[in-house]
Amino acid sequence: MTLIRGRTLSFNRMPVSMDDHGAYSYEADGALWIDDGLIVATGRYQAVKAQAPEGIEEIDHRPHLILPGFIDTHLHFPQMQVIGSYAANLLEWLNTYTFPEECRFVETEHAQRIARHFFDEMVRHGTTTAAAYCSVHKSSADAFFAEAVRRNMRMIAGKVMMDRNAPQGLLDTPQMGYDETRAVIAEWHGKGRNHVAITPRFAITSTPGQMSAAQALVREFPDLHVQTHLSENRDEIDFTSSLYPEACDYTDVYARYGLLGPKTLLGHCIHLSERERDVMSETGSVAVHCPTSNLFLGSGLFPLKTLLRREKPVRVAVATDIGGGSSYSMLRTMDEAYKIQQLLGERLNPFESFYLMTAGNAQALSLADRIGTLEPGTDADFIVLNMAATPTMALKAEVVNSLADELFLLQTMGDDRAIVETYVAGMAMKAGL
Ligand code: GUN
Ligand code: ZN
Repeated sequence: MTLIRGRTLSFNRMPVSMDDHGAYSYEADGALWIDDGLIVATGRYQAVKAQAPEGIEEIDHRPHLILPGFIDTHLHFPQMQVIGSYAANLLEWLNTYTFPEECRFVETEHAQRIARHFFDEMVRHGTTTAAAYCSVHKSSADAFFAEAVRRNMRMIAGKVMMDRNAPQGLLDTPQMGYDETRAVIAEWHGKGRNHVAITPRFAITSTPGQMSAAQALVREFPDLHVQTHLSENRDEIDFTSSLYPEACDYTDVYARYGLLGPKTLLGHCIHLSERERDVMSETGSVAVHCPTSNLFLGSGLFPLKTLLRREKPVRVAVATDIGGGSSYSMLRTMDEAYKIQQLLGERLNPFESFYLMTAGNAQALSLADRIGTLEPGTDADFIVLNMAATPTMALKAEVVNSLADELFLLQTMGDDRAIVETYVAGMAMKAGL
């Protein structure tokens, strides 16, 4: 049982403007009372202290800012060594670097080693929950989930299903993809804080037979997340249309196999037509924006504000997309998201950004009752941020005099160095790295 003191910030909904103070709770002298991995109480320090048992251990993080842990809604754990691969576009990048690298995950020891590094980077960067793709090999999912249990982190992940248009070493079959996904669900779903996601990689690497297998899994396990990629790159879209001529567009491929819905996370969604946006909205599917990846691979500018503003709004989330993405940091990610909106003539204010990284992503994952806020009863996954973490940040911090400015400084200049501590289920995990 511990009392954590600091400046606390937690969002309850998307802010509609910079002045929308009702969208969040902020305490200049706040505290969290945590016990047994959960937040028991939260609020002003004096009020929380009065509720807590006398003599409770106190950790004082003042003057730093305490936030819910960051959530990353799309990344690839077997691509840690793919980051920074020099390619012209998505398909060249996949074929030249990414698929060969993922072949290495047939080796269990390699998968276990990379899984350890992966969780270290999550903790270092203040990300307490992520939705991850493993490789096609079941053993990569085993390595990932075993490490998640060891770290007691709430993770979503899936064995990738892919049965064509990739090297032999990365192909399963419709039956194998189905059987192994079922086995991963049986072994790992609900174990520790694990959630298994049904993960057909994308339409290009799944035959119609495999898409039917994915559909069968969704029917059997309707509560599980589904994750895949959609409309990232023009050549990818054209190739998909040639592979699924009966579908009226890329989104329709997934719709035809019953893969859309409120638990479905679709990476990228950059080039969707109005019809596709309507389908996304009607099914409650989530468009996952991966800004560092979209810029790095030259994929395009995600119309974040346009999707939110529509008469039929599309649910959105934000993510790093490691290793197409170039940083594990959600702060770096939102800095790039901001710049993409600038290029589109849109504004993304710092409250919106910090909402998206925390409560917004939790809602997109349908996990807002467990993570993404500092609400009592939820998981004690939270982080401590220092806006003066580097000399250049400290200099700028001298002239910061509002919460909005502080958040914007953290987003614009911050990275893992701004994360003072990462608490996972109430335990400080970063200091021990
Ligand atoms: N589309 C299919 N697979 C991938 C992947 O690994 N990364 C990205 N960025 N897009 C994909
Ligand atoms: Zn991806």
